[in-house]
Amino acid sequence: MDHPAIKLDHVTIELGGEVVLSDVSLEVQHGETLVIVGPSGAGKTVLLKTMAGIYKPLKGHVYCEGEDWQDLQSEEKIRLARKIGMQFQKSALFDSMSSFENVAFPLREHTTMNEQEIESRVRECLAEVGLSQAQNMMPHELSGGMKQRLGIARSLALHPEIIFYDDPTAGLDPINTDILLDLILNLKKEHASTIIMVTHSLLCAYKMADRIVLVGNKQVIVAGTAEEAQHSSHPLVRQFVEGIMEGPLKWD
Ligand SMILES: Nc1ncnc2c1ncn2[C@@H]1O[C@H](COP(=O)(O)OP(=O)(O)O)[C@@H](O)[C@H]1O
Ligand SMILES: [Mg+2]
Repeated sequence: MDHPAIKLDHVTIELGGEVVLSDVSLEVQHGETLVIVGPSGAGKTVLLKTMAGIYKPLKGHVYCEGEDWQDLQSEEKIRLARKIGMQFQKSALFDSMSSFENVAFPLREHTTMNEQEIESRVRECLAEVGLSQAQNMMPHELSGGMKQRLGIARSLALHPEIIFYDDPTAGLDPINTDILLDLILNLKKEHASTIIMVTHSLLCAYKMADRIVLVGNKQVIVAGTAEEAQHSSHPLVRQFVEGIMEGPLKWD
């Protein structure tokens, strides 16, 4: 493949009359795990959704698999979006549906699979995240870690090539955080997918990232590998990795 999985070319995003991201250029390569860090309110979720074609840039272009989101008609957009798996903040499960039905949902919406094929794919996905026993449980009966894993199972259902995770370990205890991160790493190995992940946790970033980027002051700064980020001389990256409130990096 000769184009990056995702490319942002001089992208400016304005929401509610405010510029959230200004003149951002960034490429994510196939098979890469890119981790996005930054203060809360800095625009990490906005950056993810921009990559996924959900927010339109005021200026610049966003390419997914070499295609400019802006050039696509709605049917072509849906085709491209099927290559993407999304695990939103707080897992966004359907509360009135069982685990099974949550995972079946995208298959029912986006494929012509019959009931038997759906059942078989749902079982595969639940097994991959260790939730085979929980297929008839409702979301409110699941622990925080199980909910996150169910969200991941659902995002895997359509065999995505690129998976977006928005702070998947938020609110989890250290043991469940580790379990979840190991699961994500294993799934990545198995499926050779590209991963773009937001996290509030530097430890998580260091464990997962091929490359770390920092979102702050409307910019996106490539901090490099975990090693490079820790030794970066960029003032915003330095301030963030050292966790200092006072400095050029603006908190929400
Ligand atoms: N749909 C929206 N409309 C208007 N403003 C938004 C919208 N989504 C996010 N914002 C604003 O953009 C900024 C970045 O938000 P967000 O990406 O959610 O931050 P975080 O880094 O915590 O994920 C915030 O100031 C937020 O209020
Ligand atoms: Mg966010």
